[in-house]
Amino acid sequence: MTAPERYPLSLRINGQEHQLQIEAWVTLLDLLRERLDLTGSKKGCDHGQCGACTVLVDGKRINSCMTLAVMQNGREVTTIEGLAEEGKLHPLQQAFIDNDAFQCGYCTPGQICSAVGLIKEGQAKTVADVRELMSGNVCRCGAYPGIRKAVCAVAGIDGGDNAERPVVPGTVPA
Ligand code: FES
Ligand code: FES
Repeated sequence: MTAPERYPLSLRINGQEHQLQIEAWVTLLDLLRERLDLTGSKKGCDHGQCGACTVLVDGKRINSCMTLAVMQNGREVTTIEGLAEEGKLHPLQQAFIDNDAFQCGYCTPGQICSAVGLIKEGQAKTVADVRELMSGNVCRCGAYPGIRKAVCAVAGIDGGDNAERPVVPGTVPA
């Protein structure tokens, strides 16, 4: 049996150039986690439904489980490992700590990368916008109130305690 064909792939990941040879079917998430040991990005569902794998490609948030690595040739990828600068946490990382925005932490890298992309997009003006535009990032621990507060704090949106919503039985308050 012949070895599977590999394709050249050039990526800048967290500021570092990578020249790789990769099979066509490897997702960006698997490349990051399995080949480059960047395990901050998490695999929750592996089919675009949970957001745990969210990374930034050329500054835009994407689900890295839903794109093949070879499709991103020449792009700049930023993962959770690349957000802190010179030993200082990214403001969103700090805000997640300050606002108690996680429990198990499994969704947190994706939540933070998604929030970085959200703020860059400039579409979120209200708490409702934040809820809607972060809805692709699921938190099984239900840390949504803290996540919403953290994102609003960094985005400069009034998302304080006044923004609490009544709990509807059978739903998770976001
Ligand atoms: S692991 Fe990619 S969206 Fe769930
Ligand atoms: S903190 Fe556990 S899944 Fe979000």
